[in-house]
Amino acid sequence: MNPDVTRREFNLSLAGTFLLAATPALGAAMPTPAQTRGPFYPAQRPPDSDFDLTRIEGRAGRARGDVIDIVGRVLDLDGRPVERALVQIWQANEAGRYDHPRERSSALADPDFQGFGEVASAADGLYRFRTIKPGAYAGRTSHIHFMVLTAERPALVTQMYFAGEKLNPSDPVLRGLSEAQRRSVTVAFDSNGQGRFDIVFAGA
Ligand SMILES: [Fe+2]
Repeated sequence: MNPDVTRREFNLSLAGTFLLAATPALGAAMPTPAQTRGPFYPAQRPPDSDFDLTRIEGRAGRARGDVIDIVGRVLDLDGRPVERALVQIWQANEAGRYDHPRERSSALADPDFQGFGEVASAADGLYRFRTIKPGAYAGRTSHIHFMVLTAERPALVTQMYFAGEKLNPSDPVLRGLSEAQRRSVTVAFDSNGQGRFDIVFAGA
């Protein structure tokens, strides 16, 4: 990654968004629970890995599916912003298929879907992704994988869920969390497709 390019794109992408003025709640917070990384972390980093997973550089098309914007902050246990954390996401496409050599699904591939993105959190901890809502696949409700990396702390690997999904109560990974933990990783998206996912990142 070129951090300068990522930062510039990130700042531009945030201009005018509804969450820019939001302030973090200072004070002790529950750490975002770690969850399994699963088998589909990219085997190879894709050539385009920017914040917008709905478009691939050099291609005219747009990923199939409902576009969503995920905005949030990376915070430490005291509610302070974590700057320059690398936030990575990876997910299935609209049909529930990952772009990965281990994928055995018969669901359709989407050549216009990026599948993976990485951004650096800003000075106030903010990060943002534009993507599509992933399809559910065998045994799982819709979810997006997250990994947060800094130089100082062990990586946090977790997953984000969509409020109101009928498969949420039966999802084996989500069911492994306490109710409070489930709430902390379940995001309600508004009618414009915008949702907020703050990530509380414990120290070493
Ligand atoms: Fe997954």
